Amino acid sequence: MALQTSRIPEFYKKSYDERLQILKEQAGLSDEEIHILKLHAAASFGAVDRMIENVVSVMFLPLGMATNFLINGEEYIIPMAVEESSVVAAACNAAKLARYSGGFTVKSSKPIMIGQIQLLGIVDFEKAKSIIFCYKDRILALANAYDRILIANGGGAIDIEIEMLQTKRGPMLVVYLLVNVCDAMGSNIVNTMVEAIAPFLESLTGGYARLRIVSNYAVRRMVKAVGVWKKDIIGSEVVEGILDADALAFADVHRASTHNKGIMNGIDAVVLATGNDFRAVEAGAHSYALRNGAYQPLSTYYKNENGDLVGELEMPLAVGIVGGITKSHPIAQLCLKILRVQSACQLAQIMGAVGLAQNFAALRVLVREGVQRGHMRLHSKNIAGNVGAVGDEIDIIADRMVNEHCISANRARELFEELRK
Ligand code: MEV
Repeated sequence: MALQTSRIPEFYKKSYDERLQILKEQAGLSDEEIHILKLHAAASFGAVDRMIENVVSVMFLPLGMATNFLINGEEYIIPMAVEESSVVAAACNAAKLARYSGGFTVKSSKPIMIGQIQLLGIVDFEKAKSIIFCYKDRILALANAYDRILIANGGGAIDIEIEMLQTKRGPMLVVYLLVNVCDAMGSNIVNTMVEAIAPFLESLTGGYARLRIVSNYAVRRMVKAVGVWKKDIIGSEVVEGILDADALAFADVHRASTHNKGIMNGIDAVVLATGNDFRAVEAGAHSYALRNGAYQPLSTYYKNENGDLVGELEMPLAVGIVGGITKSHPIAQLCLKILRVQSACQLAQIMGAVGLAQNFAALRVLVREGVQRGHMRLHSKNIAGNVGAVGDEIDIIADRMVNEHCISANRARELFEELRK
């Protein structure tokens, strides 16, 4: 049935039941389907209704705990929200293997975010540049007048950089505002500041400001994670195999893309669990992967003097422990408590370690048996559950399907009926 209309004025003002009724009529949903939406929204409708517009339910994701993580000498249990089977298990496994050499060492830079202001209509670029630099202190003070709490915590706008860019619409001046956002992800802080200083920049330069926005190319907010996997533990064949995989990722964008996807499997899961903005982190990661003009892997591997495998991951990671929904989402709050993080930098370091662990785990599986075996084992459990199997039945049906190399809903149904007879 075709949708009758998507033109629904003031849908956001309707009560929850009215919204469901409209949706039921327009999208042709049954009572049972409306019940599913209600059921899943039951515990959290009040909270999610405040987060976005036109809410009708919640989209749930499994929240798993990655164990075994030793990062900068500290033990961590790491919450991961992710739908893909094997991701959490793989992270735990890689972290366990990294413990033989002391776990992960991760460093991060200060939490500096960048905002940009696009200035158009400037006649003399050199003059505009020098006048902005002359007034730098005034501009920074103006930006900092907007966030006293940030300043009290040691943060605030710290510097300005300027670039003249040739674009397809002619030359433009771009002013970059560098802001120490402390424990926030920082986009709101930076957006407020760049909007606040834009009129002053206009009056200084005679130009006019068009875009005034944070950049997700957060290259002043970097994380570098290092992990060592001992040759005697993982085997020389795996060491050599991962070096081959690393070489391919540097030579071929097809592989680099998937290699980085494996890293983001881990990072996004922690970003989501802690209520952070995974789109911002993804945008930063992939633009950083292109920093040398060609899309490259975010991690690299080499052998140390003992022949052990060293993995290094370096990428921008803009995440916070205050602001956004990090404090208002009850699950995100609990996840931050489980992590016992004291700062945004510490959270970013944990994510860096998880990204590297995830990447190592994927490569290790790829250079050994391939991903399908483990992946399909978990997937087969999903299929068994979907046909109605419960408890031990799920494992029995899943094992049979894996052993038979036949993992499908039809086979699961046959085995389920056989079992129930
Ligand atoms: C699947 O979600 C991720 C992998 O494809 C990553 C990789 O190939 O490195 C296994």
